[in-house]
Amino acid sequence: MTNKKKILLSGIQPSGQLCIGNYAGALKNWVNLQEEYDSIFLIVDLHALTVKQIPSELRNRCLSFLAQYIACGINPDKNTIVIQSHVPEHAELAWVLNTITSFGELSRMTQFKDKSKKHSNNINVGLFTYPVLMASDILIYQADMVPVGADQKQHLELARDLAGRFNHNYSDTFPIPEPFIPKSGARIMSLQEPEKKMSKSDENVNNYIALLDAPDVIIKKIKRAVTDSNTDIVYDEKRPGLANLLTLYTILTNTTIDETVGHFKGKMYSQLKSELGEVCVEYLKPMQSEYNRIIQDKVYLNEILKVGAEKARYKARRTLSKVYRKIGLVPLPR
Ligand code: TRP
Repeated sequence: MTNKKKILLSGIQPSGQLCIGNYAGALKNWVNLQEEYDSIFLIVDLHALTVKQIPSELRNRCLSFLAQYIACGINPDKNTIVIQSHVPEHAELAWVLNTITSFGELSRMTQFKDKSKKHSNNINVGLFTYPVLMASDILIYQADMVPVGADQKQHLELARDLAGRFNHNYSDTFPIPEPFIPKSGARIMSLQEPEKKMSKSDENVNNYIALLDAPDVIIKKIKRAVTDSNTDIVYDEKRPGLANLLTLYTILTNTTIDETVGHFKGKMYSQLKSELGEVCVEYLKPMQSEYNRIIQDKVYLNEILKVGAEKARYKARRTLSKVYRKIGLVPLPR
């Protein structure tokens, strides 16, 4: 037993706008885990290319996501924050992993099937091999723990299979990464269609609250959130709109569902919505002002990117050299 910290890795695609769902489901947990693990947090820009992007927007969004990660409390001194494309080894290992992945196992990926339906005019091969690149993200750093939402479980399963397959074909190289299900994770649902998860890339901006939404926008979006035709405030999963608002209130006030339901007992939906709007605005305010400060400071952001890429590349290079050697590629003579 060594007392070395375990390696935790996660990432978000720079598409759409980071939203309160990403915060509750991922960023908030990352912040809580940063002391306990040696963490790597990625901005997976190469993954974002699998759907059509506007180049200038993609570029700005990556920097904005970086500033938002930090504004949410991810400490760049304690963790490695890195843009995926700054570490070319991700794409290199992905190629090797492609050669031990079967067409069949990728065809079974439900996200591929969903995304091909949604982007039927752009079913590119990158979309198909996306889970292999994700496996590479994880395995290149020898990650032990991967916090992911339910929609990514199948992809993580592939990463585990590929790690095991490679270890079996050659020799022990990769730890088998474990899914990390946080104790207090929460799934925030769409405001207009509460049966589906709140998504930062939803076409309808009223479905999500972006972390950078202005106060009046937040209040308006919550006011318009879909509920139901009842009037009493109780927590009932069969009333998903209301349940979602109660969950959100509970997270933002750091209380329990019972406390929240107690607080709103006998009140009207309109009261819940206006209080939730206020709470949400107040909750995001410090993060937003921190963001506004950081995003101006290009020198600081550039420094983080440089340090992050350097730390990450060192680790990634070691794994990749090992892999190349084991599979029989000739090392470049020094
Ligand atoms: N596929 C993930 C998502 O869409 C993002 C991602 C890419 C990721 N690489 C990763 C998550 C590695 C965890 C670990 O949410």
